[in-house]
Amino acid sequence: MNILLLGSGGREHAIAWKLAQSDLLKKLYTSPGNAGTSQVGENVDINIKDFYAVKNFIIENKINMVVVGPEAPLVDGFHDNFLQDDVLKNIPVIGPVKAGAMLEGSKDFANNFMKKYHIPTADFQTFQKDNLPEGIHYLESLKPPYVLKADGLAAGKGVVICESLEEAKRELREMIADEKFGKASQKVVIEKFLSGIELSVFVLADGNSYKILPSAKDYKRIGEKDTGLNTGGMGSISPVPFADENFMAKVEERIIKPTIKGLQIENIIYKGFIFFGLINVGGDPFVIEYNVRMGDPEAESVIPRITSDLLELFIGVAEGNIDEKELVVDPRSTAAVFLVSGGYPGAYEKGKIISIPGKTNNSLIFHAGTTYDVQTEKILTNGGRVIAVCSFGETIQEALDQSYQNSNIIDFEGKYYRKDLGQDLLT
Ligand code: AMP
Ligand code: GLY
Repeated sequence: MNILLLGSGGREHAIAWKLAQSDLLKKLYTSPGNAGTSQVGENVDINIKDFYAVKNFIIENKINMVVVGPEAPLVDGFHDNFLQDDVLKNIPVIGPVKAGAMLEGSKDFANNFMKKYHIPTADFQTFQKDNLPEGIHYLESLKPPYVLKADGLAAGKGVVICESLEEAKRELREMIADEKFGKASQKVVIEKFLSGIELSVFVLADGNSYKILPSAKDYKRIGEKDTGLNTGGMGSISPVPFADENFMAKVEERIIKPTIKGLQIENIIYKGFIFFGLINVGGDPFVIEYNVRMGDPEAESVIPRITSDLLELFIGVAEGNIDEKELVVDPRSTAAVFLVSGGYPGAYEKGKIISIPGKTNNSLIFHAGTTYDVQTEKILTNGGRVIAVCSFGETIQEALDQSYQNSNIIDFEGKYYRKDLGQDLLT
C-alpha cells in the first residue's frame, strides 16, 4: 500500500517508523514531515487546505490510505471532503469526520456529549457574550481553583486554571469579551476542578468496535516537579502503573464503551484514534478532555510497545473489522524523554546542528522539530521540541536510565530536558 501521513511532529515520526516496518507498506509519504520521517519514507509538502492539491497528489502517487496525525485538519473537515468526492471517497482516511472531531474541536460539544451519555467528567456550564454575567455568578458559586476552557481549538493554550476568584472573573471577561483566544474563546466552559493524577488512554476505533492501546502519562510543564509553563509535552511513560486491570476495566465500562456507543447513536462513524485525557480521582476515572488523534509525546512511548502490525490495524479501521485484527503489546515499559530548544516554550533559536552519536542506537530517536539541511548534510533544530529519546526497560526506571544516558550524549546548542520524568509514578 502507498500511504500519505500528515503531520510533522514526534508523533508522526513514531507512526511513520512503525508503518515502515509493515510488509503491507509499499511507499510512505509524510507531509510535511521532519528529518526523522525522511529516514523512513519520503517527505512531501502538500498544502492540505488546497483540496485539489491533495486530490492530485493522491491520484498521481496512487495513495491507498491517508493517516492524519494532528487534529486541526480533522476539525476543518478534511475527512468529510474525501467522502464528498467521487474519486476520493474510496480512499480511507484514518481520523474522524468533522462531527467526530468536535470531541476535541469544541469543549462545549464534548462536555454535553459526556453529560448525555453519563460519562464521568467535571460538572460544568458554558457561557458566552449574552450570558457573561451569569458566568461571573457561576464562578462565585464555585470553590477555587477555577477551570476555564476556551470552547474551540487554541493550540493547546485554551485551558486556564485560576487560583483566585478575582483572577477567574478577569480571565472569563478577557476570554469572552476581549476574545483572548480569538473565536475559540467566544464560548467558555467553566468546570469544577478535579484533583488527582492524570493519564492518557487511547483507542483505535473503526466505527463499530475498538482496540485499547497501551496507557501512558505525559509531562506537560517545562520545569521539574511539574513547575513552570505548559509545553507541548516534555516526555512520556508507558504503561501507567496505577492503570491496572481493575482501573482499566472502569475506564472501559464507564468511559470507552459509552463514548463509542454515544458516537453511534449520534450517527457519527468515527474512524481513528480517540485519546481520553483522564484523571484518577480516588480510584475512579474522569474525563478531562477528548482528543481525536494520538497524543504527542505519548505516541513516542505507546507506538513502540505495539508489536503487531499497525498498518493491519489501520486497515481494520478502514474496513470496519478491527475486532478481527491482532493487537500485541510488549509487556516492557517505555520512557520517552524530550530534548527541547533552550528558551522553549518561550522564544528560542532554530538551526542548531544536532549530533546523534551512533552508540545511542539502543534507544529509538524520534524527531520532532528537526530538518535536514541538504547543503551541509546536517540535521538541524527546527522547533521547540526537537527529539524524543525512547527506551525500553523491564521497569520504568530501567527505561528512564537508558533514555537519560542517550539524552545526555545527543547534543545541540541550548539543549534542555527534564530529569525527573516518571518519578511521580515510582514513589
Ligand atoms: P488541556 O489543554 O485540555 O490538555 O488541559 C490542560 C490541563 O488542564 C489538563 O492536562 C489538566 O491538568 C488541567 N485540567 C483541565 N480540566 C481540569 C479539571 N476539570 N480539573 C482539574 N484540572 C483540569
Ligand atoms: N500529550 C497531550 C497532547 O497530545 O495533547
